[in-house]
Formats: sequence, structure tokens, C-alpha cells
Amino acid sequence: MALWGGRFEKGVDAFTQEFGASLEVDKAMASQDIAGSRAHARMLAEQGIISGEDQAAIDEGLQRIAQRIEDGSFIWDVNDEDVHMAVEGELTREIGTPGARLHTGRSRNDQVACDLRLLAKDLCNHLIQGNIALRRVLLDAAEKNLDVVMPGYTHLQHAQPVLLGHHLLAYFWMFSRDFTRLVAAQTAADANPLGAAALAGTTYPLDRKRTSKLLGFSRTIPNSMDAVSDRDYLLDLEYACSVSMMHLSRLCEEIVLWSTTEFGFITLSDSYATGSSIMPQKKNPDFAELTRGKTGRVYGDLIALLTTMKSLPLAYNKDLQECKEGPLDAAHTLSDCMEIAAGMIETMTVHPDVMLAQAKTGFTAATDVADYLAKKGMPFRDAHRVVGELVLYCEKHGKGLEDLTLEEFQAASPLFEADIVKDLDPAGIANARVTYGGTGHDAVVEQLAEARALLEKESEKPE
Ligand code: ARG
Repeated sequence: MALWGGRFEKGVDAFTQEFGASLEVDKAMASQDIAGSRAHARMLAEQGIISGEDQAAIDEGLQRIAQRIEDGSFIWDVNDEDVHMAVEGELTREIGTPGARLHTGRSRNDQVACDLRLLAKDLCNHLIQGNIALRRVLLDAAEKNLDVVMPGYTHLQHAQPVLLGHHLLAYFWMFSRDFTRLVAAQTAADANPLGAAALAGTTYPLDRKRTSKLLGFSRTIPNSMDAVSDRDYLLDLEYACSVSMMHLSRLCEEIVLWSTTEFGFITLSDSYATGSSIMPQKKNPDFAELTRGKTGRVYGDLIALLTTMKSLPLAYNKDLQECKEGPLDAAHTLSDCMEIAAGMIETMTVHPDVMLAQAKTGFTAATDVADYLAKKGMPFRDAHRVVGELVLYCEKHGKGLEDLTLEEFQAASPLFEADIVKDLDPAGIANARVTYGGTGHDAVVEQLAEARALLEKESEKPE
């Protein structure tokens, strides 16, 4: 018979019991559950609600159970609906009456909310470390490849030459925003619901601020009904994971493209590629593809919880039991994918010659040639048309802009002089863009320093 046996004459059948249980997923928050119970019991004793002896027995019993859960010797009983009942039931079997006093002034509703908030904080912390590690790899790769010239794209068409260091740093900043979102999710989780009991608070003189302190929560939730029914912090976590997966997916899409024969910009390390069971020549970027693919399931986790939460009346509803797998899955998926992406970037071989050769094709100098004319006094719109006609001329004659003779340039505009050649060189074009945030070498050096300083500051955070 369940813990509420008094009110019932018979229990549910085995299938119904299994259907209603959350024991399996709850195992992920067993240590948080025990921490919450230890803090609750300590506060109960400090408030004179239970005796010091009872508290000591509870505390020792819970520590023994924690140890057994940790080393795998704890026997989970499928008849327990959730981790709260499993732990409390075992404690009471072991220490008797003191164990039966543990749930004084508490409900599983504030208990599960407390466990989930502690878990969410831990998950965020882990993800923040992974985020920092990935950004460090990106920074190092950007520094190493600072001056590699490649085509920059818009519409996936050659646009203007950029430095690979600059391109990689764009991802650094995306993941920096993810860091901020993860910290925000952690802050959202960082509030204590304990003491809300079932929904209305309790008549026992609980000290809610004390359990906040004991559990390391920086705030205490001011409304008991909100405390037991809020799962926004899990949505925040899943949203942070979703955006970060979207960034990883974009990065991985580039890795997939760049490692094609058509691009040939990079070669992935053998440790981050797979072969084919039939085609002996294949080297596939499976792990980049898989990361791209896993983005979908993380979005799914977010949408699932948003959908579960809609229309829930206050306060606790059993629907809320469905809110655990998603955040755990999203966090584990993001954590794995960040590690894979960092490994791929760290070990890939860059082919600067191929990138540079590509940067020379597709008339990537056209803007600078137009700027050349504009700087000599021609209105930019006119310069744009002149160079557009030059490009058309080149296409018709199978030439690049760099193949044109000075006479051909001057036929388009008498403003062209011999110094036009310096505006045709991809490295020169990229490096001339030294306004703050531009792709020029000096600007990227400045950007790298800014990125490095930010990362060092964020790495120091005592999360
Ligand atoms: N297993 C439940 C959950 O995970 C714990 C809270 C149950 N509370 C209740 N009144 N049924 O949400």
C-alpha cells in the first residue's frame, strides 16, 4: 500500500502503478532529493518541530541511502511512484519513527520543485563549463588561423574575402550569448520553493529562509502556489539549450560543407569521421551531421514542455511530472554536442591554399573596385554600375577581375590607374577592413583580445 494508504481500501493495479510513476527519470535527481530532505530535517529540528535526536537519525539514514544510491547497491522498488517515496520509504524502514517525521510540513509538491531547481542549477553549471571549453577551442582556432583568407558568403555565394579567424570568432560570440542565457536559466532556477508544502504553505513554524541558505538558494519564492507550479526555469534552460543547439547546428552545417570535395576547405580528423560499409573511399562527417540532427530533438523538448504547461490551472497538477525528461535530454544532448564540436574544431586540418584560391574567384574584389572609383570622386551608385559592367565583361570573356589589363579597366573608367592591383588582392581587401568589428587583421587582433578577456572573466565565475 502506498504512503497515503489510510484513505484507500485497495491499491492501483501494476500497470496503473507503472503508468503513474516517475521513478526511472527521478533517479537523475536522487542526490538533490536527499540534499533537500537533509536541509528540511535540519531546519525542522532548529525550529523545535522535531527533536535533535530524530534529526540526527534522519541525517545519518539519508547519508547511508545516498551512499548506496551512489555505489549502485540501493534497491529501487517499482512500487514506489517516485524518488521521494523511494527514499522516504527506505529511510522509515531503516530508522523507524524518526523517518516517519521527515515529511512534517512538506509535500511532494514542494519537494519535487526543490529537487528540480537544484537539478536545473547543476545542469546549468555543467553546461556553462562545456560552453567555456568550446569557446576556448574556438578562440584558439581563430588565433591559429587568424590570417587564413577565405571567401565570405552571402546567400552562400562568394561575397567578399574574410579572414578565417574572423569567421570562427563569429561563432565565439554566438556561444557567448548562449553562456549568458545559461547563466540566466541558472538564476531563474535559483529560488527555494520548500515550505510551500502542497500549495498553501503550512501551520508549522518553518524557517524557509533557513532551507534556502542550507541549500544554497539565493532567493526564497514569495508565493506558495507559484512555488509548486512554476516550471519556467526549466523552459529557460531548454530555450538556452535550443538556441545553443541552433548555433552548433549552423557550425556543423559549415563543417559538413567545408569538408565536401567541392569546398575542400578542411579535412576532419579520422577521430571525428566515419567510413562507409560499401564505398571504400568515403569519409563522412557523421558527428557534425548528428549534431545538426539532434538540434531537432532539443527543440522538441522545449515545445513539449511549453505544451504541457499551457492551460494548467494552479497549483500542482500531475501533468507536471512530465516536465523532467525534456530538460535532462536537452542538457545532456547539448553537453555532448558541445564536446563533439570542440573536438572536431580542435583536430581538423585547415587548407589555407584552397580557401585563398576560392577567395580569388567569384569577383570577390568587386566591391573594393567600386570603392576605388568612389574614393576618386565617382558617385558610388555610378561606380557600382561601372564595376557591374566590368564583371559582365569578364564573364563573357572568361576572365577574373585580376586578369584585366589596365587598358581594359580604363575602357570602363579613365579613373582607373595602375594602383588598382592592390584592390584586387584578397588578403589586402580583407585586411583593409579595420573598423571595429571588421575582418581586417588589426581589427581581428583587437577582437581576439576582447574575446579572450571576456572568456577569462567568465571562466572565473564561481558557479
Ligand atoms: N512524482 C510527482 C512528480 O514528479 C511528485 C509530486 C506528486 N504530487 C502529487 N500530489 N501527486 O511530479
